[in-house]
Amino acid sequence: MTTPPTTTSTDPTDPAHPTDPTASAGPSPDPGRTGATRPREETDTSTIDGILARAAELDARDPLAALRDRFVPGDAEFVAYLDGNSLGRPLLATRERLARFVDDVWAPRLIRGWDEGWMDSPTTLGDTLGRLTLGAAPGQTVVADSTTVMLYKLARAAVTARPGRTEIVIDSENFPTDRYVLEGIAAETGTRLVWIDPDPLAGVTAEQVAAVTGPDTALVVLSHVAFKSGYLADAPAITAIAHRHGALVLWDLCHSAGVVPVELDAWDVDLAVGCTYKYLNGGPGSPAFGYVAQRLQSELRQPIQGWMGHAEPFTMGPGYTPGEGMRRFISGTPPVVGMLAMRDMLELIEEAGLDAVRTKSLALTAYVLELAETLLTRHGVEVTGPREPERRGGHVMLSHPAFRELVPRLWERGVIPDFRPPQGMRVGLSPLSTSFTEVARALLVVAEMLGARR
Ligand SMILES: Cc1ncc(COP(=O)(O)O)c(C=O)c1O
Repeated sequence: MTTPPTTTSTDPTDPAHPTDPTASAGPSPDPGRTGATRPREETDTSTIDGILARAAELDARDPLAALRDRFVPGDAEFVAYLDGNSLGRPLLATRERLARFVDDVWAPRLIRGWDEGWMDSPTTLGDTLGRLTLGAAPGQTVVADSTTVMLYKLARAAVTARPGRTEIVIDSENFPTDRYVLEGIAAETGTRLVWIDPDPLAGVTAEQVAAVTGPDTALVVLSHVAFKSGYLADAPAITAIAHRHGALVLWDLCHSAGVVPVELDAWDVDLAVGCTYKYLNGGPGSPAFGYVAQRLQSELRQPIQGWMGHAEPFTMGPGYTPGEGMRRFISGTPPVVGMLAMRDMLELIEEAGLDAVRTKSLALTAYVLELAETLLTRHGVEVTGPREPERRGGHVMLSHPAFRELVPRLWERGVIPDFRPPQGMRVGLSPLSTSFTEVARALLVVAEMLGARR
């Protein structure tokens, strides 16, 4: 076995280093040299070529690597897409599905399509999504609205279902929409928000929830994976604590659905919402999903009483009677076109298996932590999220005062993470579309840019 070729500079972050990490795909993996049995120590990761060789080894060993070819390739500038946790990449199958929908379904079937599956699509697609990604038995998941609107509907219904209880527990690091919507619900219902202030480098713990939950708590609203730090909350333990006090729990699953296995039924969760345009690759503005445990459905009355949630929408009668099961959580016409793309990603997740997706996700986040150590800490970058695998979601937050001005320049170089104030660069790793080489090339560019500032 030979060691990978080295370049003249030994500092891979040296801006004068002759190898441009974005110039090529790096050394192509030779299966004879880079197979799973090759010990890691043999790769010299103190050089750019060594780092890219190690990334190529990891790609060669990745059982899901071939599935990257199912995605529509990036543009000519593409180096690395590290924002699949914000908007997933389109699948080739989706390109075809969208065209086929126009030619084979919409154009020929026209309004008859409503009786041929569109009307039931919020619940049929919801069941598939629930089965593949949420651990939810059929009849508890619906696809509709935006996450913001679904969150409002389910949280408002939950607070109304706990009359006499005056408190809603939420955390100050939760996504803005969650905080704002719950502020509105508190004002509307005369309840009070009880704020948990989690460690911003981590997230809400079971102990913190236990400390503020009691007989006055109507609802606890938390994110399963924190949108900034990437902290994975202990959903089963927190749910159990809330239930001990008779409160309901609503989990925001935007950053977990499709990347972290979730077991809503087994964890006895009451309510959940989430986005489908992130790890479920539903495309820009694709509708949200909402989950309501079977045992609560008839008890809950959601506030946006539209005709589509009526027991008999087409009688068009004078008053509102909620429909059965999850249909009562629908308000208006199903966003049929917006539900197309996520079907392809759900199929791919089924093919890969969500546990395998999680295994790769953990390997990718571990690799970011490794490269942060090798390349970035010397430039003052900090990891501002959990390091333990059991507390890591699908993204890693890195912090540096220069990231605000650096991220737009990274985009110009074809490296696409996102910026989150005050100084965070969020490295999102959608396991089915992201390679280790992409991650290495991206962080080499970050290191090069930080080095050039000095
Ligand atoms: C954690 C979390 N919750 C809620 C939302 C809001 O979703 P929407 O804009 O689709 O209503 C987002 C959007 O990114 C999110 O990340």
